[in-house]
Amino acid sequence: MAVRVWVVDARTADEAEAARLLSEAELDRAGELDVASVRRTFVLSRALQRTLCSRYSGAPAAEVDITRACAHCAHPGHGKPRFAAAPELDYSVSHSGDLVAIAASTDTRVGLDVEAGSRHVEPERMIPLLATESERTALAGLSGQALRRELFRLWACKEAVVKLTGHGLLAVPFTALGVDGPVVRLTAPLDHWPDEAIRLTGLSLDEGYVSALATTGPPPEVAVDRLARVADLAW
Ligand SMILES: CC(C)(COP(=O)(O)OP(=O)(O)OC[C@H]1O[C@@H](n2cnc3c(N)ncnc32)[C@H](O)[C@@H]1OP(=O)(O)O)[C@@H](O)C(=O)NCCC(=O)NCCS
Repeated sequence: MAVRVWVVDARTADEAEAARLLSEAELDRAGELDVASVRRTFVLSRALQRTLCSRYSGAPAAEVDITRACAHCAHPGHGKPRFAAAPELDYSVSHSGDLVAIAASTDTRVGLDVEAGSRHVEPERMIPLLATESERTALAGLSGQALRRELFRLWACKEAVVKLTGHGLLAVPFTALGVDGPVVRLTAPLDHWPDEAIRLTGLSLDEGYVSALATTGPPPEVAVDRLARVADLAW
């Protein structure tokens, strides 16, 4: 079972070249983003998604139709993105710090999360919202950098899981997801939860970042490609 992951460094990728692939609505949205780094990662993310579908299906990147309807409620825009013309290609995107990453597979559902380890965290506020009882017990034995690393790992794993299912952060309490083993353990029943087990794989995408990949089925073979340009993505 194969999963491909592509990573772009937003500091060096060509934003203007990537912007040429975006739809008018995406360009309008990019134009509303005042913070240059946020605009850059938005443009690169949307260009990566379009390029992935284009390389997979042969359709021109600028014509790719991405649907974002929620599978869990009637909302048209906050669901897991899918390619209208290639729904069998499951994919997931994450942007954090200077990295924009996308994971895709035709063998398994995927959820990807990348967290910049430089982010400010307040363990005493985060732990009650993040950890199951057994994870809290394990965290109690950690301090300093080890505690920060484990908090980022737990966060990345749980966010990857809710991106695989499409629930996102609001519909599932992270305290209901146990990620202290290779397969997610639920501590409470959750609506619209998939029957199949969800597996977690840690990824090393770049120094200073913690990343997790959620998949269904057996342990995946993961291939990671670093791209100098979005256009270098090859299926
Ligand atoms: C999904 C979510 C956790 C991502 O958080 P984030 O801080 O933006 O994190 P990341 O940078 O790692 O991921 C961004 C990408 O997540 C993807 N995404 C957005 N919503 C998603 C969802 N429901 N499921 C899976 N992936 C989703 C998008 O591809 C987005 O990138 P893009 O806008 O450039 O396409 C967050 O946006 C969220 O919780 N959204 C709310 C979903 C919701 O309202 N659910 C209620 C269900 S009833």
